[in-house]
Amino acid sequence: MDIYRVTSDSPIWQKHAYNYIRTDAFCVGQNIPVELEFNGDGDGEKFNGVLVVDDHKPVAGLRIAYPRPGIAKIERVCTVREKQKGGYGRLMIEEAEKWIAEQGIKHIVISSQDRAQGFYEKCGYVLNPAVSAHEYDPPRKEAKEVKRTVDFHPDFTCVLVEKYI
Ligand SMILES: CC(C)(COP(=O)(O)OP(=O)(O)OC[C@H]1O[C@@H](n2cnc3c(N)ncnc32)[C@H](O)[C@@H]1OP(=O)(O)O)[C@@H](O)C(=O)NCCC(=O)NCCS
Repeated sequence: MDIYRVTSDSPIWQKHAYNYIRTDAFCVGQNIPVELEFNGDGDGEKFNGVLVVDDHKPVAGLRIAYPRPGIAKIERVCTVREKQKGGYGRLMIEEAEKWIAEQGIKHIVISSQDRAQGFYEKCGYVLNPAVSAHEYDPPRKEAKEVKRTVDFHPDFTCVLVEKYI
């Protein structure tokens, strides 16, 4: 198994592999419209993420944003459907935390689907009911425009979980 720290300078296949995992876990697995899943991704935007590859197949990935000084936000955390509950999720979160810690950042936030909260709790994250799940969202005008044209009614809500490392 290989765990990669993916940046804008990494080989392009790593980003493609991550986007495959997102497509499988979110679009196919959770019926999130592909337009919404990818529309918020900026072209050529600075990228940081973690990718897990096992037996030369992409299995899990996440990305990391830095919404405010001293805060890292882990986003779009996903494992391909056929490998979920196999330990990959915890592994990639641990790798992200190591990377974030190396940058001197001690506070990590995650906007979690309510149904994934238990997973993050197993990774040591704690619900913060006082903070909105969207508190650390970037302003994304384009994403809003697509939202108006795609009929999507999520069967989940989001909560804010966090960890001090
Ligand atoms: C949520 C997700 C990322 C977890 O990844 P994973 O590879 O399945 O997680 P792991 O196997 O490392 O699980 C670690 C622990 O969390 C538990 N767990 C996994 N998913 C869980 C969930 N949705 N709710 C509660 N516990 C969960 C596992 O059983 C395991 O517990 P254990 O240590 O007692 O054995 C993955 O299931 C997934 O991609 N789901 C669909 C997309 C999604 O919901 N992403 C999160 C959006 S916020």
